[in-house]
Amino acid sequence: MKVLVTGGAGYIGAHVSDLLEKNGYQVRIFDDFSNGLERRTKSFADIYSGDITDRQAVLKAMDGVDAVIHLAAKKAVGESVSNPLKYYTNNVGGTMNLLAAMSLKKVSKIVFSSRLRSIHQVRRMQLQRAIQLSRSRHMEPPNFSQSS
Ligand SMILES: NC(=O)c1ccc[n+]([C@@H]2O[C@H](COP(=O)([O-])OP(=O)(O)OC[C@H]3O[C@@H](n4cnc5c(N)ncnc54)[C@H](O)[C@@H]3O)[C@@H](O)[C@H]2O)c1
Repeated sequence: MKVLVTGGAGYIGAHVSDLLEKNGYQVRIFDDFSNGLERRTKSFADIYSGDITDRQAVLKAMDGVDAVIHLAAKKAVGESVSNPLKYYTNNVGGTMNLLAAMSLKKVSKIVFSSRLRSIHQVRRMQLQRAIQLSRSRHMEPPNFSQSS
């Protein structure tokens, strides 16, 4: 099984990648090295250097992948307050890109790690509701071709 680890050159991602490899998984690392270290990825051959907000790069990296562990994110609390748009674009936009690429390539397994503190209580409730909804069978878009 091939696992795409986004943020695989990061602190958590490098440990996750090592553990995956030790347990017999094939690992592909995707990282823009904005906060990742090359020395952490030295033992890996399958490395994509790219930005998670770059749709084409993410789509290319998704080829032949069976599952995704998503750890590519910016996490500096101070900067997220002074420059929220940068964080929204990177973390939310990047995740949306990733999910779109997964959908196109029919990859359905994902592990996503984030800090709960980064999600406001209300958002958490909305997220839980969204998860509940996605688990139900009522997510099909309405069929506007049918008259009501
Ligand atoms: N470190 C912790 O204790 C901890 C605990 C719980 C959750 N987390 C979460 O796990 C995730 C990773 O945390 P970390 O501590 O390993 O951070 P990190 O900064 O060490 O790793 C993040 C990696 O993502 C990469 N990255 C960032 N933006 C990118 C982009 N646009 N495109 C491609 N790569 C990009 C960085 O270069 C870096 O290698 C974060 O979401 C963090 O909130 C971390």
